[in-house]
Amino acid sequence: MKKVTLILAAVLAACTLTACGGGSAKESGNTITFGTNPEFPPFEYVTSNGVLGEFDGIDMAIAQKIGEDNGMEVKMESMEFDSLLVALQNGQIDAVIAGMTATDERRETVDFSTPYYTATQVMIVKEDSDIATAADMADKKICVIQGYTGEVCVQDMGYTYEAFKKGTEAIMELVNGKCDVVVLDSATAQKYVSDNEGLKIVEDASAFEAEEYAIAVQKDNTELLNKINASIEKMLADGTINELAVQYTEAASAE
Ligand code: ARG
Repeated sequence: MKKVTLILAAVLAACTLTACGGGSAKESGNTITFGTNPEFPPFEYVTSNGVLGEFDGIDMAIAQKIGEDNGMEVKMESMEFDSLLVALQNGQIDAVIAGMTATDERRETVDFSTPYYTATQVMIVKEDSDIATAADMADKKICVIQGYTGEVCVQDMGYTYEAFKKGTEAIMELVNGKCDVVVLDSATAQKYVSDNEGLKIVEDASAFEAEEYAIAVQKDNTELLNKINASIEKMLADGTINELAVQYTEAASAE
């Protein structure tokens, strides 16, 4: 049984890597190829039995429904968060769905859909930490994830920090007492705090602005953007996205 699962996973991985079956990865006829970085629960993570093959999470369910709404097959390619916008510009993927905040800087190179989720950066600290505001980070060891908006925030505050490739790596540093605070998106932070003993979340609404998650497409790919927007707007209006958010946050904390 285990072996079968492994083989299946390998075949799936191979398909993702080569985008097999579809020829070009470009949105050709009936396929949308999304890129994601599945290291961001509850939005995207790898699991044995996800809504899209090995991928599960709020974003993965949204991508699946966008495909359904438009009668299109959905393919998901996994890559580093840093590589997503480059892959989009290269045409290796048609769209990015990755809990990605629509920022002005990113808008210079890609277009964003209607936002579907509002988040904010928070500070994850040890339960006994004396950090109560963002200003308290000034003389602390700060960890961020490379390329995330949290890194930009800490940079803009003028603090020095260490950047990690994955959220789990930064959290391990914190758990092991090698750093004092991890700056990360709220829902993902919540997931890590419920998974690890002895951590808590500190918010500072005056230091961290609201961020809106949206799907990125190539600049001027209006045809695809319109399809994505129609689907997102429908899912916002009928409560689907809300339900998914509740469902995946509960699933995450029940584990
Ligand atoms: N919202 C943050 C950003 O846009 C973090 C997103 C991380 N997403 C991921 N799938 N790893 O920079």
